Order: sequence, then C-alpha cells, then structure tokens
Amino acid sequence: MSVIDAIRKRRSNGMIEEREVPRDLIEKILDAAVCTPVHYNTSPWRFQVLTGEARNRLGKYMAQCFVENQPDPEAPAVKAKVPVIEKKALRAPVIIVTAAAKSANPRAIEEEDVASATVACQNILLAAEELGLACIWRTGSFTYGDRMRELLGFEEGTRLTGFMYLGYPAKQPPAIERPTSGPYTEWFDQ
Ligand SMILES: Cc1cc2nc3c(=O)[nH]c(=O)nc-3n(C[C@H](O)[C@H](O)[C@H](O)COP(=O)(O)O)c2cc1C
Repeated sequence: MSVIDAIRKRRSNGMIEEREVPRDLIEKILDAAVCTPVHYNTSPWRFQVLTGEARNRLGKYMAQCFVENQPDPEAPAVKAKVPVIEKKALRAPVIIVTAAAKSANPRAIEEEDVASATVACQNILLAAEELGLACIWRTGSFTYGDRMRELLGFEEGTRLTGFMYLGYPAKQPPAIERPTSGPYTEWFDQ
C-alpha cells in the first residue's frame, strides 16, 4: 500500500481484544515512532509501555488527577466516578504513553520537540495499521497537567503527548470518506 493510501485509509480503533501483543511487534512500532523529523537532533521522544498490571496503576493515576481537579474531591458524585475512571486504562492490553522530553540544548524550541513527539503518535497509528493492530490515540485533560507527568515518573519539563491504546482489533471500524484539503488551503503565487 502506498504511504498516501495508508494515511487516507487509517482508522482509529478503540475496539480492542484483551489479547497479549508480542513485544517484538510493540518494538517494531516504537522503532517506527522515532522516525520523525526533529530539529537540533534533540531526540525528544519518550515512551512508557504499560501492559498487564501496570495499566491499573495508570487507571489509578487518571482517577487521582480527576479527583484532585474537583472543587469538592470528597463529594459522593466524585467518589462514584473513581472506579469507572480506574477501569479506563483496561480498554486495551497495551498503552503506550508518549511524551516529549525537555532538551538540554539551549537552542532547542519546546514547541518543536512537542511537535516531533506528536508526529511519533501518528507514526504509531500508521505502524499499528500496517501490522494489523488496532490503535487509538487518547488524551484527556490530565494529559496536559503536570500531575500526571509527575505520577508517571517522567522527568520535570517532559510534556505528555498521548496515550496510545493498542492491541488486536475486536472489530474493524468502517471505512470513512476522508476530506480533501481544498477548504483549508489558500494558494498564493505573488
Ligand atoms: C491529540 C488527540 C487526542 C485524542 N484523544 C482522544 C480521546 O481522548 N478519546 C477518543 O476517543 N479519541 C481521541 N482521539 C482520536 C480521535 O477521536 C480520532 O482520531 C477521530 O475520531 C478521527 O478518527 P480517525 O482517526 O479514524 O480518522 C484523539 C486524537 C488526537 C489527535
């Protein structure tokens, strides 16, 4: 399949079986993930691969971030949501947490490193597609607060870019009509 066809046919798929994904497939995906353009050679990509019990830890962190953000963390309605949120990290057998590290290079531009680590997320989606795996890029407000970064143990200054839920597809999503770029593009020749 051509690269352009793969890009146009790719679908996010959150309908994922609870079946183990071999480590070599995950490594193949991550090796594709780091093939992004990157300014000043900063190697900003950081990943945490969460499988098995490690996902429960993420679920607890998601719930903790939610509770800490509530005006009344002790409210019964808040407490009732905790077990629901905790289970969200069990929606796939593999979750790849993606992030951009803060570069020590004084010339590095944070936005560019985040951009490069964000492109890695698209590489993950495309690589998963080629390997017949389902993948969906998820975030949530906790992604951008410093608390989740800290709970996961990423170094200070690291910016989370996504939570890639990965596994074997339980169902295939339907093909969709992709947009064309016309409405979003202006052309200038002077
Ligand atoms: C930065 C980012 C964050 C996303 N977060 C979520 C999310 O939290 N939950 C979700 O269901 N999908 C999330 N998505 C996936 C989109 O819902 C999905 O890409 C969109 O529905 C289009 O579907 P497609 O990828 O098959 O074209 C996210 C996508 C991006 C780029």
